[in-house]
Amino acid sequence: MSKIYTIERFILEHQPESAKGEFTNLLYDIALAAKIIAHKTNRAGLVDILGRAGAINIQGEEQQKLDVYADEMIFRICDHSGRLCVMASEEQEEIMHIPEQFEKGSYALVYDPLDGSSNIDVNVSIGTIFGIYRALDWDLRGREEDVLQPGRDLVAAGYVLYGSSTMLVYSTGQGVHGFTLDPELGEFLLSHQNMRLPAPPAYYSINHAYFQRWSPAVQSYVRWLQGGEDGSAPVMSSRYIGSLVADFHRNLLRGGIFCYPAEENKPNGKIRLLYEAGPLAYLIEQAGGYASNGRGPILDIQPTDLHQRTPLFIGNRSLVDMAEKFVAEED
Ligand code: AHG
Ligand code: MN
Ligand code: MN
Repeated sequence: MSKIYTIERFILEHQPESAKGEFTNLLYDIALAAKIIAHKTNRAGLVDILGRAGAINIQGEEQQKLDVYADEMIFRICDHSGRLCVMASEEQEEIMHIPEQFEKGSYALVYDPLDGSSNIDVNVSIGTIFGIYRALDWDLRGREEDVLQPGRDLVAAGYVLYGSSTMLVYSTGQGVHGFTLDPELGEFLLSHQNMRLPAPPAYYSINHAYFQRWSPAVQSYVRWLQGGEDGSAPVMSSRYIGSLVADFHRNLLRGGIFCYPAEENKPNGKIRLLYEAGPLAYLIEQAGGYASNGRGPILDIQPTDLHQRTPLFIGNRSLVDMAEKFVAEED
């Protein structure tokens, strides 16, 4: 019989030597935030009903949007851990400093608090994405530079999927591990140890409605994915949820690729480098796959702006390599 691991115990036993216990608290804080956000997410559809009945919001406050709630919750849980020196969130224009009364640690946290926000009100899976960097300079720790680091320098990354169950998936550079929340126990239990991308891939995920806006190279590539062009693509089906975390998770389990290419009026596409592409690129490489902007590895891009966007092709290496080939032919 396989052992039962809570996330806490697993992190403690599997963290890198260099982390000396520091990761345990940090990742455990994120797991706690995930549980709180999951709880809130599960009640999202009840807000109006209970709100009207006067059962909540006795102070008469307006109900917060879930993405704002998630953003604040992560900050509030992580700001006094003593492990972080700075945070950056997709929802905040500037970096977020650790309040003066708390100690500053040696790590920097970047996060997309609520990914797939267009799916919140329609009861479809959403997520949270995070990445952890080490501060560049101990004495100067807490600067914007600490979060503007290439994905290659991440020391940990992961996501939480609020789906039919809540899952937390993370890596500290020693494989990708997934935990499923038992809502009764309130514990994340190890359910997917050492996740590897299966081959052949089963799915590709792209928003086909934007076909006319893509470059001819991307259009040809998508035709190739559909079995056209030279017919050398594996036979795949298509799935697109509109929550990157959910599409990524399915492709990680079944094999596949998620693409959000550049568009005519959006040369960098939509996906954010720091909060979305970087952490997921780190995970996909840990699972045996690859992430590219069409011209090279996402992990090698040096971010220059907190909210910089990037075209994204992420999944099985064979499929991402082929995307780069199509793009290169056009260049
Ligand atoms: P967010 O909700 O954090 O702003 O991210 C939404 C992103 C991503 O999750 C998803 O894959 C993509 O937007 C969907 O965009 P389209 O509706 O343009 O396909
Ligand atoms: Mn997002
Ligand atoms: Mn978001």
